[in-house]
Amino acid sequence: MKNQNNFLKIMIFIGVISAFAFNAKKGKPEFTSRKTKFNTGWNFHLNDSIKDQDTINKNTTWRTLNLPHDWSIEGEFDEKSPAGYGGGALNGGLGWYKKTFKIPLENKEKITTIVFDGVYRNSQVWINGHYLGKRPNGFIGFQYDLSPYLNYGDKINELIVKVDNSKQPNSRWYSGSGIFRNVWLQTTDKLHVEQWGTYVTTSKVTSKSATVHLETTIKNQYAASKSATILTTIFKNDTKVASVTQNIPIAANANQVLNQEIIVKNPILWSIEKPELYTTITTIVINNTIVDEYKTTFGIRNFKFDLDKGFILNGKQVKIKGVCMHHDLGPLGSAINTRAIERQLEILKGMGVNGIRTSHNPPAPELLDLCDKMGFIVMDEAFDMWKKAKTKYDYSQYWDQWHAKDLQDQILRDRNHPSIFIWSIGNEIPEQWSEEGVIIAKELSAIVKKLDTTRLVTAAMNPAVNMNIDEITLQFEKSKTYFNALATSGALDIIGYNYAHQTFEYHQENFPNVPFIATETTSALETRGHYEFPSDTIKVWPVRWDLPFTTGNADYTVSAFDQVRAPWGSTHEATWKVIKKYDFLAGMYIWTGFDYIGEPTPYEWPSISSYFGIVDLAGFPKDVYYMYQSEWTDKTVLHLFPHWNWKEGQNVDVWAYYNNADAVELFLNGKSVGVRSKKGDDLHVIWSIPFQAGTLKAVSRKNGKIVMETEIKTAKTPALLKLTADRNTINADGNDLSFVTVAILDANGVLVPNANNEIEFSLKGNGKIIGVCSGDPVSHESYKGTKHTALNGKCLVVIQAGDQAGKLELTASAKGLQSSTTTITIK
Ligand code: GAL
Repeated sequence: MKNQNNFLKIMIFIGVISAFAFNAKKGKPEFTSRKTKFNTGWNFHLNDSIKDQDTINKNTTWRTLNLPHDWSIEGEFDEKSPAGYGGGALNGGLGWYKKTFKIPLENKEKITTIVFDGVYRNSQVWINGHYLGKRPNGFIGFQYDLSPYLNYGDKINELIVKVDNSKQPNSRWYSGSGIFRNVWLQTTDKLHVEQWGTYVTTSKVTSKSATVHLETTIKNQYAASKSATILTTIFKNDTKVASVTQNIPIAANANQVLNQEIIVKNPILWSIEKPELYTTITTIVINNTIVDEYKTTFGIRNFKFDLDKGFILNGKQVKIKGVCMHHDLGPLGSAINTRAIERQLEILKGMGVNGIRTSHNPPAPELLDLCDKMGFIVMDEAFDMWKKAKTKYDYSQYWDQWHAKDLQDQILRDRNHPSIFIWSIGNEIPEQWSEEGVIIAKELSAIVKKLDTTRLVTAAMNPAVNMNIDEITLQFEKSKTYFNALATSGALDIIGYNYAHQTFEYHQENFPNVPFIATETTSALETRGHYEFPSDTIKVWPVRWDLPFTTGNADYTVSAFDQVRAPWGSTHEATWKVIKKYDFLAGMYIWTGFDYIGEPTPYEWPSISSYFGIVDLAGFPKDVYYMYQSEWTDKTVLHLFPHWNWKEGQNVDVWAYYNNADAVELFLNGKSVGVRSKKGDDLHVIWSIPFQAGTLKAVSRKNGKIVMETEIKTAKTPALLKLTADRNTINADGNDLSFVTVAILDANGVLVPNANNEIEFSLKGNGKIIGVCSGDPVSHESYKGTKHTALNGKCLVVIQAGDQAGKLELTASAKGLQSSTTTITIK
């Protein structure tokens, strides 16, 4: 097919009204989507020995399931798993999927396409015995045209997908296995907007006006040339803002690129606080009939990375307070679910997070949609390695053949998202110190720039040359001798370092002409609800240099007093203090927002999931969440910890994170034990007091007036369970979720902070239990079971709605405790 880049430029102010696609009265879009979800009624078979599709097709032992699906999460944790602890000790393997379906006769003259949002990994697809192709990369979307091989009418079609994730290890960190993202069936006319066929950018953005540029690629698969009317309409919510129509000829079997510019008056800008979105609908009309409609969501905003002021969004300086997220969803594994991603983002937003780094791969499209809607500054990352491997069977083996296509597809797929501001072409790439790395970086940057010049390109690098490093450990002493060829190559628009926060303040001296972003920081470790007192470990606090890789605890717990960190990282407070201090530092992405499966530190059995999250694997915040909340939000915070169950007389360190106040007074059983205030750049206050059972109460005050009070009480023995659903009403769509927290309480209703009871769940009604999790990195109980051991008083159960309205009744019970039941309505 040849590409006719026949640029047709027009400039139209509030537009030509057409009746074709719109309800004339309200101007509402009456949009018919060309894709429908193709997720239900798939067959699955896990078998390492059957290698060809003819044999598998004769197989009769299929299990029926709905997508998205991750088979690894269904397996048992395996100390000997070839995936290693880095991969969460969960096995890969070779899986087969099959789906049978009919296509109506009237679609015979249309194009029917199957669209996969991501299959991990090495997928191969057949339709009715015809081979369609292979895609090694598990994180990128792809599609195949099924039309030439389809049966129409009553005859059945058979689609087979082979997924080969058997060679391990191949990913840092847990990858999941299978068709783990959505699948769609798309029906279009032979004349249609190409896959990812629109590119919307904005310029000259002020509060008065913005110029919207639309580049639309129209594909003509007819054997004859076509003359079509292309109608482009911009909507803000349901209101038509501007439109433009144009008649164009499109040659037979050719692509036609159409360029248009539309002025939007008084645009409502996209920002973190108000992520306002616009949509454009492209309508193709032939002989007064609509043949294709294509919707693109975009935002209008302007931004720059300033050498002195960091990130400027719509003229306002915004510090990027971001987190890195790995793609798994805790107990749900890597099978994506929009509500599960939304919940993660809501929890992070609650802490004040305004940025997400998609470490280290292209994310599910739904994550980017949510970041657009919820207001996050996204760094969209492409690769964790280039030509040189990080793990034995990783993507490096496909690099030569696939990297250009994979990167190009990612940019095409993602470039309309207003939430994306930075493209990252790689994370800690082994070639970063060599000339070879420079050549690759330049090539990748050129691929990106050809498709999008509106964002900056970076790479997440390790410390570069000539840093002024003092007060430093051996680790960074060494970095003086590193030659980070990438950083100095000019291939990057913004310098991104991982860690090395000690070097950040020297950035302007070393790179006076390139802005800065801390692409990855911190890597502090914590187990939720587990405490060792900093004053007990004062010699090694705040940095445990004597225990660099380990927690030091035989039971693989890590204290939650922000006192343990990876040798290359820092405590949470240390890095934030630096980022906060210097305007020219645009911001940071902390490793990580949530715990993820794999990469436990210590890197050894029995640990199987990470300790780096500010929020644990179940979604329960660790204490340091509130440090960030006190710094990053306007909410009034007074967070007091640890719990109040210790040995009588034992000396206990008590910390408080607070804001909006100038002092905090602590009372033990009604008696004041002292007033504390943060001094200088302090981010918390400390008391050290002998334990006495009862009530510990903190009172924050401003100018003598009480701002907030917080209490912690000594818990007695566990007596009852309490269920609390994040949402009591969910949608009857077969997908929606309710995340239910189980708390173990004493007879007075106080959370028992060290209760680790095993809890059993049962569910009545049209729904399913699809995940259980306590956030414990050493638990080997299945996330897919119906019972689970709590960690430090808490456990999570995830309920999925069926597709019928009704009521669900969830009961949690545990030996010797009063059980609890909650009702969830499905509407
Ligand atoms: C970084 C790496 C991440 C993760 C992290 C843990 O070096 O980019 O993938 O391993 O360390 O601290």
